[in-house]
This record gives sequence, C-alpha cells and structure tokens, in this order.
Amino acid sequence: PGVGVILVAAGSGSRLGADVPKAFVPLAGLPILGHALRGALSCPDVAEVVVVAPVSHLAVARELAEAALSEHEPSRVTTPARQAESSTTDDGDVCRPARSAAYVSTRAGSGEPQRRVGVVPGGAERGDSVAAGLAALSPEVSVVLVHDAARCLTPVAVFERVVAAVRAGAPAVVPGTAVVDTIKQVDETGRVVATPERSMLRAVQTPQGFRRDVLERAHALSSDATDDAALVERLGEPVLVVDGDALAFKVTTPADLDAARRILAG
Ligand code: C5P
Repeated sequence: PGVGVILVAAGSGSRLGADVPKAFVPLAGLPILGHALRGALSCPDVAEVVVVAPVSHLAVARELAEAALSEHEPSRVTTPARQAESSTTDDGDVCRPARSAAYVSTRAGSGEPQRRVGVVPGGAERGDSVAAGLAALSPEVSVVLVHDAARCLTPVAVFERVVAAVRAGAPAVVPGTAVVDTIKQVDETGRVVATPERSMLRAVQTPQGFRRDVLERAHALSSDATDDAALVERLGEPVLVVDGDALAFKVTTPADLDAARRILAG
C-alpha cells in the first residue's frame, strides 16, 4: 500500500525568534524544510509527500520540494509544478481548496511507481494544518505519516520502523523515547496532583503513522490536539509506541538550532 507523508511546516516558530517561519530558517545552507524533505524522501516506502506551508511561503516550499525530489530521483525528469484543477496562482490566498494544490512529480520510468510532492497552505493550529494535508493526499495512499518539518534530522530508520508497524497491523504508531526527568502533573496553581511512574512514560516524536481510514475518522471528530495520536486515542483505537531516536528532536529554540548546526557540521 502507498505511504503518504503530511509534512507540517506552517508554524510561525515564535519560540525560535527568527524573522522567517521556522521551516524556512537556514540550517547548513538549506532551509529546515529542505532537510525534512530529504529525510522523508530517503525512505523508499514513501510515494507521496504533501508539504503544508504558510500562505506566505507556498512558492518557496514548492521550489524546495522540487529540488528534494530531483535530488532523490537523479535519473528522472522532474516535471514543472502544475495546477491540478485551477489555473489561479496560489500565493497570498488564505484558504484555497486542497485539490488545487500544485503538485510536482517525477516522470515515472516504465513500471516504476511515481513519487509526488504537493504543497498546500496550512491553518491556524497544527491540527488544522494536518487536516489540510490529509484532504490533499492522493486516493492511492493508504498509510499516512504525519511528520513535523521541525524534526528535520529524523533518521530514516524511524520512518521505516513506523511504516513496518502500521503494515504489520497497528492502526496507529508513534515513535517514542524514555524520559530522563521525573514528570509531574500539576493544576492551574502549580500544585502537583500526580507523579506518574517514570518507567511507564514516553516522550513521543514524529513521524506518527496511521491507517488512513483511522486518521480520517479521528480528524472528522476534531483536529484539536498537540499530536495526532491523541485524536486516535479519543476514538478508542490502540496506539503503539515504537523506538524513536534522539536525532528526531524538534527544533524549537535557538539552542536546538545550534545543536542541529553542530550535528550537521559533523
Ligand atoms: O509549534 P510546534 O513546534 O509544536 O510545531 C510542530 C510542527 O507543526 C512544525 O513543523 C510546525 O511548522 C507545524 N505547524 C503547522 N501549522 C501550525 C502550527 C505548527 O504546520 N499552525
């Protein structure tokens, strides 16, 4: 079954304090989104990537997508971006139907599956951006990975573990790591109300993988959560945690950006 990635990159990244949205901040000569695209496309199972970008950066996102696609398929010709349905421009328009997203795709060789990358505008909250990406996926996609562009150094092995677990039958799969700090649950006044047993806690990352029908049912109820697995939990469907990776950290603060630069510098 085809694997599609929704790459959410529409956040402002206010905690990073940069003058461009976070996904467009340069990291070793390439915007964060470019690194994230490289990572997603390095997973051979991935047939399609839908980038969800800020309305102000749709054209830049499309250029990065096109570059990443031709880098991964050097022997193929990348077709220019084409409008799937309408011929209107997509920059500066706040709410455009997802299907009018311009797609770039590789021209498939004989018998080889085609890989496609599309770009759609995001929403106010992360969940709205995921919903916009979900609406734009091709009908052939049956396994969906939702991935934060900000986790731009995620190793391909994490993508592969998540895809393998969904294909093995899990409706929802998230990568997670053990937590090192003791975590307290507090009330609004800061008073501790519970201390969950640390060995039972996991810090979860992305890509989070889902059977497409399960993710669609979850988003049909609500898109309001900080991760997609929480929406699936509300349906009562089981969510499985597989091993994440420290390199799948989310670039959030200037210190994270420095860490990512140091890692890329070797
Ligand atoms: O803000 P935070 O770091 O939690 O965002 C996680 C991911 O979700 C980022 O890659 C960000 O670009 C994306 N996002 C989005 N649309 C929003 C908010 C965040 O695509 N409205």
